Amino acid sequence: MWNDTKFTRLLGLDLPIVQGPFGGRVSSVDLTAIVSNSGGLGSYGCQPFYTNEIIAISEEIRKKTNRAFNLNLWVKDKDDDVNDFNELALQEVTRLFLPYFEEVGVEPPLFPLPESPSFEHQIEAIFAVKPAVFSFVYGIPSADILEKCRRLNIKTVGAATTLDEAIAIENSGVDAVVATGFDAGGHRVSFLNKAEDSLVGTFSLIPQIADQVKIPVIAAGGIADARGVKASFVLGADAVQIGTAFLATQESGTSQIHRQKLFSIDARYTTLTKVFTGRLSRGIKNRLTEELKDYQENLAPYPLQGKIVGKLGAYPANTESNPELKSFWSGQAAPILKYHYAQELIENIIKDMSAF
Ligand SMILES: Cc1cc2nc3c(=O)[nH]c(=O)nc-3n(C[C@H](O)[C@H](O)[C@H](O)COP(=O)(O)O)c2cc1C
Repeated sequence: MWNDTKFTRLLGLDLPIVQGPFGGRVSSVDLTAIVSNSGGLGSYGCQPFYTNEIIAISEEIRKKTNRAFNLNLWVKDKDDDVNDFNELALQEVTRLFLPYFEEVGVEPPLFPLPESPSFEHQIEAIFAVKPAVFSFVYGIPSADILEKCRRLNIKTVGAATTLDEAIAIENSGVDAVVATGFDAGGHRVSFLNKAEDSLVGTFSLIPQIADQVKIPVIAAGGIADARGVKASFVLGADAVQIGTAFLATQESGTSQIHRQKLFSIDARYTTLTKVFTGRLSRGIKNRLTEELKDYQENLAPYPLQGKIVGKLGAYPANTESNPELKSFWSGQAAPILKYHYAQELIENIIKDMSAF
């Protein structure tokens, strides 16, 4: 049976399908619960939230499902050069963006930029909530944190963009590894080398990792229907993590215009850019990604860049505004998207998998 794998046995799931967690406030309680109630693993991206918010979100998820779900965090929550980013540096970056601020009639942000939640505090919410699964990107939590997860019976899942990262994850005692290829939507979560030097495609990455590690391998990047699931399994994966195809469903937390974009011809053209957050990520090309293509090294470090650019896309206080100046995250598989509801996506994968 295609749905009886090392990964489903580890967690007692009916389906080896993980809904990719979404940071940037586009996860939703409904989507997490629908996927978990279907027998897969629903996920919630907690990267932008403070401890009390993560606890409140988890209570909402538990009202809608009593099955396993996954909470996700970013281990490295700040780039190394954040502390050197002073007022002068902010002025230099905002100079680059001045024409856009003038165009939308918004004042550029002033120094100091607002704070963001820290991993050190967010992890306390994971210990308090005790989800069945804690997944993470941009590094590996300390041995103490992993030990505490084991004691609390929280299974851990780390993300690898290269074989070296997968081996490091397994050697730390993590329970499963996501093999995430550069086809994937959202951030390139590399932690051993620069993301730009760690761009391996999903279908090259899966078999390399499957050959070298014993823990379950979850394939991510470019998988949007049963063909991708089947191909991943043939290459040695024990589960798939689907992002863009779930993001495009009505239940996700993104905006209507983002969903429309994912189903439009524009989604044929994605790019890797640092312009939206300061870290390399894949989204649909627009004016901002193209006009600032040659300025990737003149941006603010993560998480500060997002606080500068965020003002452009979010003004006026309406998330549907200024589509040419905001991020529309998307993986390379968007042109094959078909389904507008999460349940429909899952049911069609199940139906098509049994036909192979
Ligand atoms: C908008 C968006 C936000 C994402 N945020 C996160 C995140 O916070 N943490 C994480 O582990 N993965 C994140 N991802 C990656 C997805 O969970 C998933 O691995 C990826 O989308 C799979 O590739 P696909 O988009 O080709 O299906 C994000 C992806 C997207 C599209």
